[in-house]
Amino acid sequence: MQDIIRQLEVMREGARQGGGVRRIEAQHAKGKLTARERIELVLDPGSFEEWDMFVEHRCNDFGMAEQKVPGDGVVTGYGTINGRLVFVFSQDFTVFGGSLSEAHAEKICKIMDQALKVGAPVIGLNDSGGARIQEGVASLAGYAEVFQRNVLASGVVPQISCIMGPCAGGAVYSPAMTDFIFMVKESSYMFVTGPDVVKTVTHEVVTAEQLGGAVTHTSKSGVADLAFENDVEALLQVRRFVDFLPSSNREQPPVRPTADPVDRPEPSLDTLIPSNPNKPYDMKELIHKIVDEGDFFEIQPNYAGNIVIGFGRVGGSTIGIVANQPMVLAGCLDIDSSKKAARFVRFCDCFNIPIVTLVDVPGFLPGTSQELNGIIKHGAKLLYAYAEATVPKVTLITRKAYGGAYDVMSSKHLRGDVNYAWPTAEIAVMGPKGAVEIIFRGDIGDEKKIAERTEEYRQKFANPFVAGTRGFIDDVIMPRNTRRRIAKALSMLRGKQLENPWKKHDNIPL
Ligand code: HXC
Repeated sequence: MQDIIRQLEVMREGARQGGGVRRIEAQHAKGKLTARERIELVLDPGSFEEWDMFVEHRCNDFGMAEQKVPGDGVVTGYGTINGRLVFVFSQDFTVFGGSLSEAHAEKICKIMDQALKVGAPVIGLNDSGGARIQEGVASLAGYAEVFQRNVLASGVVPQISCIMGPCAGGAVYSPAMTDFIFMVKESSYMFVTGPDVVKTVTHEVVTAEQLGGAVTHTSKSGVADLAFENDVEALLQVRRFVDFLPSSNREQPPVRPTADPVDRPEPSLDTLIPSNPNKPYDMKELIHKIVDEGDFFEIQPNYAGNIVIGFGRVGGSTIGIVANQPMVLAGCLDIDSSKKAARFVRFCDCFNIPIVTLVDVPGFLPGTSQELNGIIKHGAKLLYAYAEATVPKVTLITRKAYGGAYDVMSSKHLRGDVNYAWPTAEIAVMGPKGAVEIIFRGDIGDEKKIAERTEEYRQKFANPFVAGTRGFIDDVIMPRNTRRRIAKALSMLRGKQLENPWKKHDNIPL
């Protein structure tokens, strides 16, 4: 018995060593943690239960029979984050560069299958050179097995990917199908083909950072959601993030005790809107004043800044916030902001998270660049996402709600449950100046007349009351009472039940 126990310990120690001391030191020298150190940080201390520590690859080609490392380059299992169950896999770059073999893929698939059965999030810590080259098609098959599970799990359990090293080839497509992607600056990369292949094929010279670094993907391509300074920061933020999410689509979002009263007045909001309608203000100030303790977890802060998305809580319960940002492009909707917000709305709808929409939108961004790149199709994504969402939807128009964008932004007509406006709201087909230049084209040149007509239009439409008389706005509320009114609406909506007609799946414009 003693011998077997000793043998078990030796085997465990072998697995814990991964690719050996030299490679672990190389990993640390790059400022990266090892696969196991990462798991320790992301989970509650002592909560990790490891599976498949003794799994080995089955490849005998290219001298691989002599190179077997227990665990085969990925550490998998389950544990808790602030007491709530999560499944995790963490690729070990010290073992064949974290590359994915058939056995490595089977380990990932096993925890994904289990997560789906019990209804718990899957967190992937990715650090991989892609398909294990020595294994050929077996590793490609392994990837496809993971992809298939990513799709089946989508909308059932939250899937979060942390990119913590080079992720090339197949290694990027699994994260791409998960709900959120976090990256680490200057040590993580995502590309389908790396700089060398790019140079050979297109003769472009580009660094890994420019092609697929954290800054590139969180500010230019929009592939990733957040970029962090180092592994530690990224993993601690994953912990904070998971606290906002329900464990599966079978659950309501978690409720966290808060000392912040839901009826907290905010007199400063009465003066948030500048008297000049063309002057911007920071919508994030409003968000921070609505949510519990000012705690707002923003997603994609550096991409399509004309729309702000993220999670907060009201009365301890999670909400998703979508808000036009007048500070960027005057808050216009364009291709990138429509895609960004549409995906977020759909995530919230999958996971029973009520959506609070803050509207100050002068319309869709005009221009050839937008039209030729398909604003019609991309703008329709957001319209579609709001229209199909059945979770509680609370909308507040702070200032402009013009044209099609008024309809899109969770209007009453798209089954908005509670639609409020501040007294400063302007709900119209377009701004007074643009409207007058079209309907009184004959008066152009007569400045006095145009000014009179503009004022007339402003008086008639630049307010929330016309929409109010039709019941498109449920109430005009005082800005200082916004948190209380939103909290009351959300509380009233807690028992909301609404179903769309049966279908195999919908056909959102992609
Ligand atoms: C097997 C691999 C490997 C791989 C790296 N290694 N990638 N082993 N299969 N795909 C091994 C190396 O041989 C090395 O072993 C160790 O991992 C570390 O690699 P280095 O190159 O020394 O590290 P670094 O300089 O940091 O470069 C990391 C890297 C590079 C950028 C990831 O290794 C690389 O370009 N790898 C190949 C990437 C790739 O083309 N993958 C296949 C993509 S195709 P030793 O023993 O020296 O420590 C694909 C198809 C799937 O994924 C498609 C599905 C849709």
